[in-house]
Amino acid sequence: MTGLFIVFEGGDGSGKSTQVARLVDALRADGHTVVATREPGGTGIAEQIRRVILDPANVEMCDRAEALLYAASRAEHVHHVVRPALDRGDIVVSDRYMDSSVIYQGLGRGLGADAVRQLNLWATEGLRPDLTIVLDMPVELGLDRVGTPDRLELAPREMHERIRGYYQSMASTDPAHYVLLDAHRSIDAIAADVLAHVQPLLGAAR
Ligand code: ADP
Ligand code: TYD
Repeated sequence: MTGLFIVFEGGDGSGKSTQVARLVDALRADGHTVVATREPGGTGIAEQIRRVILDPANVEMCDRAEALLYAASRAEHVHHVVRPALDRGDIVVSDRYMDSSVIYQGLGRGLGADAVRQLNLWATEGLRPDLTIVLDMPVELGLDRVGTPDRLELAPREMHERIRGYYQSMASTDPAHYVLLDAHRSIDAIAADVLAHVQPLLGAAR
């Protein structure tokens, strides 16, 4: 595998999709082959699973089913999209990946970070990102930015507060693989910061 796998993580409305688009544009303008993708989703089957997971009508879904559906969606995504692109030597930029499950399902829902990480390592045959960019901002501001809330965004405010803290500590414990950026700034300022962290990794990727 010779490509580069970059993931954006963070709370809802923190600007991940916006920054994925900005980074992808900058890398393409620089001549790189880039696959932009997102979770849950990224393939036909994974997008169908996404609709089931996020449908606010599915209030009765139990936490373990939720974790398994995210993992199933991720298995599809990695098998059909991410790994083939990395094998070609492309750059893959994903809006969320397995840390979303470790944090939302493992810690947020209380299923256990280790159990959820193991499930997802199995689902993905151990594929980890080269760099994860965590966008950090006050929960209130992020949730105010999202339109109609999905089933996860409707989770208690207290869970979203804990999620922010978990992302902050995850990033601080492994600085070789994570960077925590203040997302309460202009889109341009954040995009410049992102690029500065990605550029040193571009050596092997097409
Ligand atoms: P996420 O993917 O993390 O949910 P989005 O990128 O979809 O977040 O952004 C949520 C909303 O906030 C969008 O309307 C987007 O245009 C806006 N937004 C994103 N980044 C910023 C920023 N740095 N400053 C102000 N608004 C932003
Ligand atoms: P997403 O579409 O990225 O929402 P947003 O753009 O608002 O951040 O993700 C949908 C929701 O799914 C979001 O609330 C986070 C949640 N999620 C998990 O709980 N576990 C996961 O593994 C993933 C990928 C997302």
